[in-house]
Order: sequence, then structure tokens, then C-alpha cells
Amino acid sequence: MLGKYWALPEEERAAYRRRLREMWNLPESRVPTEPQMIGLLHTYNRGLRQPIFLGGAMGGAKSAWLCMLAIHLCNTIPNNRFLLARKTFSSFRGSTLVELEEQLESMPQVKHWPGKHEVDFPNGSKIVYMGVGEPKQREKLGSYQFGGVGIDEAPEVEHDVVRMLQTRLRLKAAQKANRLILALTGNPYPGWIREDFVKAPKPGYSFVRALTRDNPHLDPRYEADMKAEMPGAFLFDTTVRGNSNAGHVYGTDITEDDRKALIEYLKTL
Ligand SMILES: Nc1ncnc2c1ncn2[C@@H]1O[C@H](COP(=O)(O)OP(=O)(O)O)[C@@H](O)[C@H]1O
Ligand SMILES: [Mg+2]
Repeated sequence: MLGKYWALPEEERAAYRRRLREMWNLPESRVPTEPQMIGLLHTYNRGLRQPIFLGGAMGGAKSAWLCMLAIHLCNTIPNNRFLLARKTFSSFRGSTLVELEEQLESMPQVKHWPGKHEVDFPNGSKIVYMGVGEPKQREKLGSYQFGGVGIDEAPEVEHDVVRMLQTRLRLKAAQKANRLILALTGNPYPGWIREDFVKAPKPGYSFVRALTRDNPHLDPRYEADMKAEMPGAFLFDTTVRGNSNAGHVYGTDITEDDRKALIEYLKTL
């Protein structure tokens, strides 16, 4: 019998993560990390447009999660449209897009059009990507509708801009599938994200920690080297951890019904 995913022993959880990699035909080296898996599970059976925040310091596999999620929602919902964004386009191109392209390498059926800032799936779904920090950039959105919005390094982005993008989550194809997803990532330094997701989480908001040490795909020296180079980048991450050293609190903010639905989903893996 399956228990709650987060209550399973680590070995069994790892087995589910390996199974997910197989199901999605990902390369052997791309087993989802624990926070990535929990973050993906949070996208099932939640309220429409209720945000999920994957938060933690550098290297926590957050951008990779956002790309994985965008690809997953495009693959599973025909005619879906997912917006992947960061504050500036140049930072998006240098970080998130590099990760997205890496993930697309094993998917020859999916076509990337760098000139159009678009990724096309055979089922009619699309990932579009852009910077959203400037009003000029946002004008391009016109009256676009999305089934999913993913904002990388969301604490850099004004709260109002995120709220505006949230209102664009109304694509029928994704609504029918009950999955209008707002996904945010970043380091929860003081600001609206920290308030709404970490300090006093709003109802329906999910916060999943994705720490550097939760990412086994980094080289073992990464965290120590980066801490020596830029201690500030890890500061708030440590604080957040300290707030809840009771262990894993993933998923404590979802309802019993949601939990049951997640378990049903797990059985289908
Ligand atoms: N599931 C995965 N499988 C393989 N490599 C991964 C996976 N998740 C993340 N990585 C790799 O780990 C590194 C850090 O991930 P990234 O998403 O850039 O972290 P963050 O955005 O939290 O700083 C990247 O090189 C990325 O490709
Ligand atoms: Mg990143």
C-alpha cells in the first residue's frame, strides 16, 4: 500500500522519482530531485491559479523544476500555452533558457524557435518565454491567455507584475484539465514572497524548499565553493531552514482531499 509520499521512507520515495524519470523518458542522469518531485505533486488537485513557490538558494534545482513543469504541462494538456519568464530577458537567456534547452535535447519531437522565443509541441502546446520587468515587454502580452505561468527568480519581479500575469491564467484547455498553474522560484529574501509563502502562508499558497543540498546533481564541492565565494546568496536559505528544523514540512498546507488525490496520482506512476 502507498502511504503519503512524504511519509514514505527515503528509499521508496527515490524509487518513485526514478519511475517518474522513466515514465517521462528522461535521460538516466535526470532523475527528479526530492523538491522537484514534491513541487510537481503540488501542481495536482489544487485551486486554479493558486501559486506554488519553490524556494531556496543557488543550485537547488529550481530553474530546472520550472522547465520540467512547463514541459510536463505542455506534454499532458493539448493546446496548452505556458509562459516562462524572468525579470530581464538577458538573465532568462543566460540561465533558465540554458536549462530548458538542455532538457529539450532528449525531445526531438519538440521544436524550439529561438527567434520567436517559442517552443512547439506536437500536440499544439507551446512554451513562450520573455522578460517581464519592463512595461514594454509586458505590452507584448496583449490579451494573451495562458494555462501556466512560471516565473524564475520571482522575488526580483514586482508583486503587481506577478498578479497581472496571474490574471492571464484563463486558457480553456488548461482550465478543463483543472490545472491553471502559477509557479514561482527564487531565494525567499525579505519581501512579498517571503511574507506570503514563508512567514504567514496565505491559504492555498504552497511553499516547497529546494536547498542546494537537496540537489544530488551538483558536484559535491559546489555548496562549499559557492558559500566561500558569495556567502550572501545562502544567507536567507539558512534562516528559512532554521524556522522549521522539525524536518520535512512539505505539503502540510494542503487539504486532506488534496493529499488523497496526490496518492491516487502516485498510484498511476
Ligand atoms: N533533475 C535533474 N537532473 C539532472 N540535473 C539537474 C536536475 N535538476 C537540476 N539539475 C542541474 O543542477 C544544476 C542546478 O540546477 P538549477 O535549476 O539551475 O538550480 P537553481 O535554479 O535552483 O539555482 C543545473 O546544472 C541543472 O541542470
Ligand atoms: Mg535558477
